Amino acid sequence: MDTEGDLLLITIEGIDGTGKSTLLTGLKSQLAELNPIFTREPGATWVGEAVRRAIAEQIDPITEASLFVADHAAHLATVVRTALAKGRLVISDRYSDSRFAYQSVTLKGIVPDPEGWLRAMHDGWSITPDRTFLLVLSIDDALLRLADKSGREHFEKREVLDAVQNNYLAYARAEPSRFVIVDAAKDKEEIANFVADAIRQIVKSGKEGRKR
Ligand code: TYD
Repeated sequence: MDTEGDLLLITIEGIDGTGKSTLLTGLKSQLAELNPIFTREPGATWVGEAVRRAIAEQIDPITEASLFVADHAAHLATVVRTALAKGRLVISDRYSDSRFAYQSVTLKGIVPDPEGWLRAMHDGWSITPDRTFLLVLSIDDALLRLADKSGREHFEKREVLDAVQNNYLAYARAEPSRFVIVDAAKDKEEIANFVADAIRQIVKSGKEGRKR
């Protein structure tokens, strides 16, 4: 994967139930002065509709994984690359780490090395985020928060969420300069303030870097 110079791509990750949507709402109001492009995976383009259908029908895991990758390719082609080329800050609600963390679990026993397979699928054309905020919550709390939600997806089971969160934590340990771990049990305003401040700081130091 390549990173495109000093352009800024920030991603928000975490298992279902960690409060990503609430955080994104907070960031939209707090970061208006930076004029960011807020985007998401899956679903930034019509390919997301195919992904939703694959999830709902519980189609076979390879088809589902491939559609998630197709959704990512369409997202890069139509939203992310254009925005970064214009020098815009891009903030994506889920991105490639979702694939590595979730599909490594759904493809277990189906392909020999799921994570290697998934990373190879992204190699050479995808863009690595500059910074990734990972919301971390106990599985009990995440399940509690998901309890009221109707139409739960097949990912939202204890053993899946547990494995997915362990994957995310392993990636954060492997890339400590990219990942920022956020305690999702904290108050939602405190979380939004912390992440918004961190993003302002990253943008500021990016600009200073560009001047040198
Ligand atoms: P999302 O729309 O973020 O969840 P929500 O239904 O809470 O709005 O994502 C839908 C599901 O897809 C979620 O359980 C995470 C999963 N997912 C993957 O398994 N792989 C991926 O690459 C992505 C982007 C999401």
